[in-house]
Amino acid sequence: MSQNEVHVPDRPTFLMTDPAAFDVSYRINPWMRPDAWSDGHAQAARAGSAALKAALEAAGGHVETIEAVHGLPDLVFPANAAVVLDGVALMARFRHPERQGEEPVFRAVFQRLKARGVIREIVDLPESLFHEGAGDAIWDAERRLFWCGHGPRSSRAAIPVLRRTFGQETVALELATEQFYHLDTCFCPLAGGKVLYYPPAFTPDALATIHARIPESQRIEASEAEAAAFCVNAVNLDSRIIMAKAPESLRNTLRARGYELTEVDLSPFILSGGAAFCMTLRLDRTSQPAHARFAAE
Ligand code: ARG
Repeated sequence: MSQNEVHVPDRPTFLMTDPAAFDVSYRINPWMRPDAWSDGHAQAARAGSAALKAALEAAGGHVETIEAVHGLPDLVFPANAAVVLDGVALMARFRHPERQGEEPVFRAVFQRLKARGVIREIVDLPESLFHEGAGDAIWDAERRLFWCGHGPRSSRAAIPVLRRTFGQETVALELATEQFYHLDTCFCPLAGGKVLYYPPAFTPDALATIHARIPESQRIEASEAEAAAFCVNAVNLDSRIIMAKAPESLRNTLRARGYELTEVDLSPFILSGGAAFCMTLRLDRTSQPAHARFAAE
């Protein structure tokens, strides 16, 4: 294979991290509970991560698993490693020192992916900016744009860098609270154009943007309980949505809209403020028009 040949994978390909070094030992978001962490959680985390991988594979996905690194517990959230589209990876810069040690680890991972031709180009953010990867830059395959969260973790000024790097439209959404500190905790575009989101997580301006861009018939509002169960932090593949254990209310809402749910017990990861979406990073996204394979009711 030549240096520049890109092999964007032909099926949904996800990066995940072996959870062997996962724990909750510091607190950089209000969900994190170092005091509540126990050995039992470590065991449950291994089971939860394996179940998520199995669910992605059952839905037709392929999972690339990277090794754990002791001392970097949040490496299990590779959504924060980079923004990836069309084989280009824009590497993250983490706001909190607790996670900055992940940057060289993820860089080495992307260099290996590049050597294999899965990634074509690795791009760096200017040093003065923070950006926490796909957690704050969610590709909407239907609308062909990035929804970009900013505020608690990612700098607003990183958004034009994303626009230039990928040559795609970006829509800025300011996050209003420390609870919903990454966009992926409160906003999830779905196949068919619907969007599952938690309105109180957004500033009034951001909500106005969402309402202007997404017609009411395509907006699915999560309740506080549904958002707190980290169900908005979901992975969607066609009609299937893979998420943490969902309240009955959300199951009913999504089924009524034509989606099928796979629920995974991710409670140890929720103790760190993360769940299905941020435990993964899609490597195969392209800016090509989405196949109109699925359009839910
Ligand atoms: N403990 C991690 C942090 O606070 C959780 C990250 C979850 N990632 C996400 N994209 N929501 O950074």
